[in-house]
Amino acid sequence: MSKKLKVKRIGILTGGGDCPGLNAVIRGVTKPALDYGLKVFGILDGFEGLVEGKAQELYNKDVSGILATGGTILGSSNKGDPFHWPEEVEGKIKIVDRSKEALKYYEAWNIDALIAIGGDGTMHISQKLSDMGMNIVGVPKTIDNDLEATDQTFGHDSAVYVVSEALDRLHTTASSHHRVMVIEVMGRYAGWIALNGGLAGGADIILLPEIPFDWNIIYDRVLMRNMMGKRFSIVCVAEGAKPKNGGLIMKGKDLKRTDPVQLGGVGEFVAKKINENTGLETRYTVLGHLQRGGSPTPYDRILSTKFGTNAIQLAIKGQFGKMVALKGSEIKSVKIVDAISKQKLVKPKDQAVLAASAVGVSFGTEHL
Ligand code: F6P
Repeated sequence: MSKKLKVKRIGILTGGGDCPGLNAVIRGVTKPALDYGLKVFGILDGFEGLVEGKAQELYNKDVSGILATGGTILGSSNKGDPFHWPEEVEGKIKIVDRSKEALKYYEAWNIDALIAIGGDGTMHISQKLSDMGMNIVGVPKTIDNDLEATDQTFGHDSAVYVVSEALDRLHTTASSHHRVMVIEVMGRYAGWIALNGGLAGGADIILLPEIPFDWNIIYDRVLMRNMMGKRFSIVCVAEGAKPKNGGLIMKGKDLKRTDPVQLGGVGEFVAKKINENTGLETRYTVLGHLQRGGSPTPYDRILSTKFGTNAIQLAIKGQFGKMVALKGSEIKSVKIVDAISKQKLVKPKDQAVLAASAVGVSFGTEHL
């Protein structure tokens, strides 16, 4: 069958932060590709492997039994942008362009189509590499769910599941000790994890980057709950949430990354302010990378498999510069260049925001 196909050698890589479902996509691409008689090369550690020439051929045995396994068998990196490559010179970070080396390995390995699985950063790099002549098909991954061109990225549902489960656990201990419990979740500049996780886990207050909050509304809400006999409150805070007239709270900066901002700390800050201003005993939990680890949910296993199997079809059909995307319940394709034009953020009138609001969740603001 491969004789009839123009595409004979497929490259596949996983870029950026990992998430549950990556292995399911690798399996979804590789199994049908091998059935078509194609050769599949797994590029190691994201674009880093393309720049430094690290790859291994994938066989059926490599992708068998990995559907439910978290992480990525190929490894990943969020510091391997070929156009923004960090080099340490005399203790200082110097950024250099190594995209020509990436192209060199792509050509040396005779890759006809490269399947790039990743989020916003990976799609930006993919677009630039496409412009240099590489045949790329994108698969949208990220727990943050912040890619506009797809209704959902894989990995998000698994992260939401972790948040929801954590909130269930926090509820019981919060209620026993009559405490305010603050949980900080990931998502960078988008509030999807906090919104969907908070809604699923019955949070009383959800704070999002897209809806700057008012401290007094938060204090009033937890005090009011206390007065009404509900002697505990659960606050779900996105790592990118910020108060009105306030800025992002950062853990630090990592200059090796294209976006150096490392978010973190807002949960602790919110807990401290609530305690100081209400007198209520308050604790905070940072869920961190627990949201990225472990087995994908059934939803993510299905979405990842659909994405992977559709991506290989696009590659075989020569539909390069495209990304698979979920539109309603169908898998479609969109141009990568369109997929990266805008970040998908929570709109204050989003149905999930309105539904949460209707059941009494506060977003720390008077008007949505
Ligand atoms: O983009 C995924 C994500 O998990 C974000 O939600 C978070 O801000 C960031 O990556 C954390 O990155 P790192 O794994 O480098 O700490």
